[in-house]
Amino acid sequence: MLSYRHSFHAGNYADVLKHIVCVEIFEHMLKKDKPFEYIDTHSGAGLYSFHSSHAQKLKEHDAGISLISPKAFPELKSYFDVIQLAQKKGVEHKDDLSKLAFYPGSPWIAKQFLRRNDRSWLFELHPEDFKLLSKNIPTSKFSRVQKEDGFQGLKAIMPPTSKRAFVLMDPSYEVKSEYDQVVKSIAQAYHKFKSGTYAIWYPVVERAWINRMESQLKSAGVRNIQRFELAVNTDDSQSGMNASGMIVINAPWTLFKKMEMVLPKLAKVVGQDGKGGFKCDVIVVE
Ligand SMILES: C[S@@+](CC[C@H](N)C(=O)[O-])C[C@H]1O[C@@H](n2cnc3c(N)ncnc32)[C@H](O)[C@@H]1O
Repeated sequence: MLSYRHSFHAGNYADVLKHIVCVEIFEHMLKKDKPFEYIDTHSGAGLYSFHSSHAQKLKEHDAGISLISPKAFPELKSYFDVIQLAQKKGVEHKDDLSKLAFYPGSPWIAKQFLRRNDRSWLFELHPEDFKLLSKNIPTSKFSRVQKEDGFQGLKAIMPPTSKRAFVLMDPSYEVKSEYDQVVKSIAQAYHKFKSGTYAIWYPVVERAWINRMESQLKSAGVRNIQRFELAVNTDDSQSGMNASGMIVINAPWTLFKKMEMVLPKLAKVVGQDGKGGFKCDVIVVE
């Protein structure tokens, strides 16, 4: 089933959390000269316009990226620099992010960090989003855009030839079985390549599904797991997605400190009726 389109949601509070984590991981990967591979199992279209009919329908960015500014979050400078780069040439917004016209997706963010010898593998199954992604991030010697199942793609790449990798797994969870599929796929990849950094995005609609994912990862023998979560509402609210999070395996040592600093501030800003919250914890130690 492929009815999900990320263009309806780009720039929402879930994207903000996900992409802040990604930027921190990319910055850490660049600290070593040795090339690395970036594997985006569920890439989306790469770049989104806030003027599109999809974005205008739900205006989720109004309750996400539009609520935060470089002035209020100086510690997120690298993230805002990428957001700024995504705006059309000649449009100067500086600190006024309320006038943003575009929001970059994970492959576009990755492209700003990858060096000449690093490689990206971008998987996207939706025919329209695959077309857009291929246009936004054309395939090159260093970047492959594939209209293939990202779970299968990851299986084929692991272990990576460069022996360094950052894997982002960001499915839409359109069907409940995807929760199990994510764990299975990550655990398989992890056991083929234990030193990789793996980041899994998840929505909190039913807390029990997330608890299950976490305990399945533990039972599968995955070590060094951290969790970062941003909530707009309490778990018992009946309003759909109350929070979203990132499970990060082998996170850079800088990430936890950064998220401890940023998450309480973000929760205050994006929380609905003062009900914002966050989680920042170590689920399994090294
Ligand atoms: C949440 S969106 C990705 C957003 C993107 N990672 C970002 O941060 O900008 C999930 C995407 O996965 C695609 N998708 C769904 N199932 C897939 C699969 N099995 N393999 C690859 N892509 C898939 C959907 O079409 C959708 O575009």
